[in-house]
Amino acid sequence: MQSRFYRFVSPFLVLLFVGLLPAHAEIRETSVWWLPRNVNMFGHAIDFIFYVILVLTGVTFIGVFSVLAYFLVKYRARPGVPAIHSHGNNTLEVVWTTIPVFIFLGLAIYGNEEWSRMRRKTPPADALPVAVVGEQFGWNVRYPGPDGKLAKMDAKKVSKENPFGVDSADPAGLDDFTTYNDLVFPVNRPIRLYLGSKDVIHAFYVPEFRLYQDMVPGRVYDFVWLKAEATGKFQLACNQLCGQGHYKMFGKLSVVPVAEYESWAKGKAPAPAVTATSSSATPVVSNQR
Ligand code: CUA
Repeated sequence: MQSRFYRFVSPFLVLLFVGLLPAHAEIRETSVWWLPRNVNMFGHAIDFIFYVILVLTGVTFIGVFSVLAYFLVKYRARPGVPAIHSHGNNTLEVVWTTIPVFIFLGLAIYGNEEWSRMRRKTPPADALPVAVVGEQFGWNVRYPGPDGKLAKMDAKKVSKENPFGVDSADPAGLDDFTTYNDLVFPVNRPIRLYLGSKDVIHAFYVPEFRLYQDMVPGRVYDFVWLKAEATGKFQLACNQLCGQGHYKMFGKLSVVPVAEYESWAKGKAPAPAVTATSSSATPVVSNQR
């Protein structure tokens, strides 16, 4: 009996395995069969609610289908046995409606609470500001210089030459530096993101951060922040179908020790022309893409 079951099921298992393996292995390096590891401070709550929902729905699934299978056998058509006419049971209906209502309410309230903790509370003052602006098809990234401040971004000023929409005369932006498809974050330091788009809707998505945010042109999103708790190499992938090159809209993202971040940033900083030339405002836009 058992061997017949396996003979029936095993071709499907093999198909499933063969079908899934290449699709996942190319994208993920670790944890191919399950969630990617979480490295963001906020990810624990998201994983927690994921597992709560998985257990709740899993137990319900097994319970409902066990009863269904049992009843299918027990009340099957048999010659000489009359059918039972059931008109339901009000008590049962009330119970199995009320319980899910409270479960859903609890999940909604908890989820909302975590969401506002992640997105609505002001990021810590010592957060490193990093601007990321999507375009077809890549990521413009802007880091602050030694002053620790980014130039102010204004979505109305975004243009082909000025993806960040910054005012080139803003003194805070003179020492900023930019990269393309290349992000480095210091570990254990809050990062405050300024997200924008140059053309169409893109989405900032890093599965290991459990972080997803759409970037709609005409807006600068300044409320998303994170704190990476472990070093590693990740991928910033665009998660909104944004055109023919969407599939290749990848950014390299590394989380590194603070000292390594600092030396990387020093190497990227624009030439110290800002201090050498007189302070008469020759706009320093050479480092802008
Ligand atoms: Cu940008 Cu998809």
